Amino acid sequence: MAITVNGSGVEAPRDARVSLLDFLRETMHLSGTKKGCNQGACGACTVLVDGERILSCLALAVQCEGRDVVTIEGVAQGGALHPLQQAFIDHDGFQCGYCTPGQICSAIGMAAEVRRGAPSHVSADLAGDVSLTREELRERMSGNLCRCGAHNGIIEAIAETFAARVPA
Ligand code: FES
Ligand code: FES
Repeated sequence: MAITVNGSGVEAPRDARVSLLDFLRETMHLSGTKKGCNQGACGACTVLVDGERILSCLALAVQCEGRDVVTIEGVAQGGALHPLQQAFIDHDGFQCGYCTPGQICSAIGMAAEVRRGAPSHVSADLAGDVSLTREELRERMSGNLCRCGAHNGIIEAIAETFAARVPA
């Protein structure tokens, strides 16, 4: 069964030990997804699988057979940047850029979680409306590290894109 990557079907690797991260980077040459720690600690490898954010260094490529994988190369549509990509530029949400693909994929997945009403560790209401406060944003994005310290711009970009109103 094929894996769909950014809209195109590709054959899964024969070696069941290959991580999704290595499959994307080494086989598909999609180098936008970054390898930071390779052990689930930094978030640089975050991609979307069936709309959910996952750490591709901790997933096997064969687990994605029949599923829809979106990497940073697939978030722009019709030649236009995703609004969050533009917001990262507008708010200086990066310096070296190494964490940026993971930050953007993670934030897109995070916004979908909020739309579903999924609570986080800091949510006051576990069963209801989740408003995307800065505290919520910081908590929900805490799995994506930025060694350059661009977090303020990152949070601004995500807030502008996904939050109707984010209290200071
Ligand atoms: S490379 Fe996957 S979490 Fe760091
Ligand atoms: S922009 Fe350099 S690690 Fe985040």
